[in-house]
Amino acid sequence: MQITSSLDEIRSIVKAAKKNNLLIGFVPTMGALHEGHLSLIRQARTENDTVVVSIFINPIQFGKNEDFAQYPRMFDTDCELLSKEGVNVVFNPKASEMYPDGFCTTVVPEHLEDKLCGKSRPGHFRGVATVVLKLFNLIQPDSAYFGQKDFQQTVVISRMAADLNLDVNIKVLPTVRDKEELALSSRNAYLSETEKKDARCLYQALIKAKDMVNAGENNAGEIKLEMEKVINNCKSARIDYLSIVNPETLEAVTEVRNGNVVALAVMIGKTRLIDNIILMVL
Ligand code: PAJ
Repeated sequence: MQITSSLDEIRSIVKAAKKNNLLIGFVPTMGALHEGHLSLIRQARTENDTVVVSIFINPIQFGKNEDFAQYPRMFDTDCELLSKEGVNVVFNPKASEMYPDGFCTTVVPEHLEDKLCGKSRPGHFRGVATVVLKLFNLIQPDSAYFGQKDFQQTVVISRMAADLNLDVNIKVLPTVRDKEELALSSRNAYLSETEKKDARCLYQALIKAKDMVNAGENNAGEIKLEMEKVINNCKSARIDYLSIVNPETLEAVTEVRNGNVVALAVMIGKTRLIDNIILMVL
């Protein structure tokens, strides 16, 4: 497994792979890897000749009062895991090289960045879109793998790929959960044992929505009311948003249709967690 932080070196690795007609699969991450990340890497491994994983805690996607400084950093453990998964290249660029003095060009996902998570994280999605485009340009992947857990991120990236005519297959894989159905996240490391138990209310609320839809309810307002009750039952939980949306525009719907996504962000103590499911309407 090659490990490089050099932009020149990643370019020459990619050039050599392209010359040999090798398919490149790419999984962008911020490290602190868990089974959610590994599910993307395993899929990339089965579909490509060369698998590149980036580990880069992207400063421009964090707000001033967010957890950039505390974000878990465990590069050596991550590399051990990646080597076991048969990853070919780990790319961990330096922030000073990704964003040198004078850097001033950003990708703005208009109409998508002010919805859902974007409301309480202004600037987050332009930070994500910008770094992902830069990584795509450096790595030139045939396919890139993202998790459904970060639903709005998948919508922003797919839209960017279409709008900017990127020659990359964007693949979205299901959310990996722990035994208690809590969506795996590097930020779960911030939770105390009690908070971890409380955090189950996110999935319970999503299941409430699913059950109501299965029972024939299609009024989004009614569903959201019941979901709020589930979450408000839990002492340490505070709802940031709870919404049922069109999966392409992220506009809230009033009447639930097949393929709508119910998404939520909830503060558990000081930790902000997100989750979502796709609703099937028969
Ligand atoms: P990070 O949070 O490290 O996540 C990297 C990838 O793993 C993302 O596509 C995310 O959706 C996916 N992932 C995280 N938890 C998951 C889970 N429980 N099940 C399935 N997939 C999961 O998302 C980012 O990093 C950054 O925003 C990034 C795209 C790297 C840009 O900086």
